[in-house]
Amino acid sequence: MRVLVSGPRGFVGARVMDQLIRDGFDAVPSPSFRNCSEEDVKSVICRVQPEVIVHTAAISDIGTCEQNPELSYRANVELPLWIAKSGVKTLFFSTDQVYSGCESDGPYAEDETMPANTYARHKLEMEQRVLEVNPESVLLRATWMYDMPMYGVPNRGNFLMNMLRQKSCAFSSTQRRGVTYVREVAGWLPQTIHLPGGIYNYGSENDLTMLETARWLKNELQLDIELSDAGLRHHLWMNTDKLKASGICFKSTVDGLRQCMEDYQLKSFN
Ligand SMILES: NC(=O)c1ccc[n+]([C@@H]2O[C@H](COP(=O)([O-])OP(=O)(O)OC[C@H]3O[C@@H](n4cnc5c(N)ncnc54)[C@H](OP(=O)(O)O)[C@@H]3O)[C@@H](O)[C@H]2O)c1
Repeated sequence: MRVLVSGPRGFVGARVMDQLIRDGFDAVPSPSFRNCSEEDVKSVICRVQPEVIVHTAAISDIGTCEQNPELSYRANVELPLWIAKSGVKTLFFSTDQVYSGCESDGPYAEDETMPANTYARHKLEMEQRVLEVNPESVLLRATWMYDMPMYGVPNRGNFLMNMLRQKSCAFSSTQRRGVTYVREVAGWLPQTIHLPGGIYNYGSENDLTMLETARWLKNELQLDIELSDAGLRHHLWMNTDKLKASGICFKSTVDGLRQCMEDYQLKSFN
């Protein structure tokens, strides 16, 4: 099956390419879609003739979106819409940030959303409009993801690397939020391609607060890191029952971290 991957040199896209190739897909990296027009997107899709598109290209930094809302709108709403208009079945990455202003304490199911920042508002608008244009679209609300560095691929700041590299870190003792091993995300894609169109919470559940999660990892790896309380933060934890009902069951956050530690042979650092 030919799969076009946008953002193939990004944090998620590079791992998606790697996994799809290993699983025997004809994975085709897209050129950069920065500063592109709708025509440019059309012509790439026309040339590649994919059966499926995995769209990871985005402006995913919350601060950048807050400071440059027009740029964010173009990258996070217009670009995905141009892709949806092609009619090709597409997996679009969205975010758990769509729950950042919810009134309830969660865990949040797909129909309870209240975005509290520009990035999240744009992602939510993208989800709704993309589904209107192409109801076969699969929207994946991802959690914060992590991995160790990969040769030749940028590794953006992530929970695991922060814990391994920094001398001190602050995490909230009130925030419950899933954190997911990005290789598990990539690993589920062959099944995800066959999901019916719709919105799915897509990642690890977590019953622990962020500070408890960090303390657990510190203890497991005997890390020399000082952990402090970052104070009140909104919950972002998700209920993934809809995804589980489709046969896709992510490990819990702690079990995902255990898997990553095993894959990279991470042992006690002291
Ligand atoms: N990383 C996370 O923890 C996380 C959490 C939740 C959701 N997500 C979502 O998952 C997807 C992938 O995230 P990521 O961490 O892989 O992102 P990323 O590494 O920051 O960026 C992915 C790619 O997006 C492209 N890009 C950057 N600016 C662009 C622009 N203005 N217009 C068009 N393309 C642009 C770049 O590709 P080129 O260099 O080829 O242009 C970049 O490599 C995104 O939709 C993100 O919102 C990520």
